[in-house]
Amino acid sequence: MLRTTFTELVGVEAPIQMSGMGSVGGPELAAAVSQAGGLGTNTVAGLTPNEVEARVDLIRTQTKKPFALNFLIPVVDTEAVKAAARACRVVDFFWGRPDAELVRIAHAGGALVSWQTGSLEEAVAAEAAGCDFLIAQGIEAGGHIRGQLGVLQLLTEVVEAVKVPVLAAGGIGNARALAGVIAAGAAGARIGTRFLAAGSTSTAHSALPHTAYCDRRSRGLRPCRPRPQAIGRECGQFPASRARRPIAASWEPSPRWRATRASQWATSRRSSRQRRSSTSWSRAQRLSCWGRSLR
Ligand SMILES: Cc1cc2nc3c(=O)[nH]c(=O)nc-3n(C[C@H](O)[C@H](O)[C@H](O)COP(=O)(O)O)c2cc1C
Repeated sequence: MLRTTFTELVGVEAPIQMSGMGSVGGPELAAAVSQAGGLGTNTVAGLTPNEVEARVDLIRTQTKKPFALNFLIPVVDTEAVKAAARACRVVDFFWGRPDAELVRIAHAGGALVSWQTGSLEEAVAAEAAGCDFLIAQGIEAGGHIRGQLGVLQLLTEVVEAVKVPVLAAGGIGNARALAGVIAAGAAGARIGTRFLAAGSTSTAHSALPHTAYCDRRSRGLRPCRPRPQAIGRECGQFPASRARRPIAASWEPSPRWRATRASQWATSRRSSRQRRSSTSWSRAQRLSCWGRSLR
């Protein structure tokens, strides 16, 4: 198996981290990824310290290999971070400015710390905050998207600027893409959607609301992006409004756009009504027409 600075640091066999994915990437999927040699990751955002411990016990019954627990900054609870750091190999953070105090707390518990970043500036801040490795998230990523650049562009900027291992995240779903980001300087890849599409024993996964989305991805098609509201709901207590990404906000229809669309829809409804009424033949007419066509 390919060795990289990431595999050496974390103690896994494959240069792959599974993304934390709210409640859709359940503990069973995380354990399965770890058991197969990658770094399985389970999101524990919004859980109490006791619930984090219970989650760890559940993963531990399925694998003895290293795994990560993922926190979302808007709902981070330092006591839960302490509980996670005592029990897992990597404490992983996302969706907020790198915070040296959180990194210190996780290190004090004995875990490595990773931070998923969406810009060069954020990556440099994460390294300065003491993170052991970073994730450069490109705009191709599924779920919560902080990246504003294509993954290769951001990755090449980040690997030039920091010394810690960097994983690439966003649209990586096969060995060629993994090899591509490693050739561009990554120490591996963080992969989410492809694992959801892979099928697993996870009950959360079988209830996945994004089946069509995953199907499109696994068939190499451009996915329709999951609605931010739906992603918000997946993260349990993570409020939907917080999950609205900048890219989603920039697509918010303006009042003028709404007004134009409303008048277009009204026109098209009117004309299809007219078409229907102009072609609504009587029964006798239809019978006579069919009769003619049969002759
Ligand atoms: C359905 C879904 C839910 C996600 N939820 C989270 C999350 O709770 N925490 C997190 O750090 N990242 C989350 N992400 C983003 C991932 O960390 C990562 O950036 C993404 O999966 C990489 O892109 P890919 O899905 O194309 O592989 C989510 C991604 C998906 C697809």
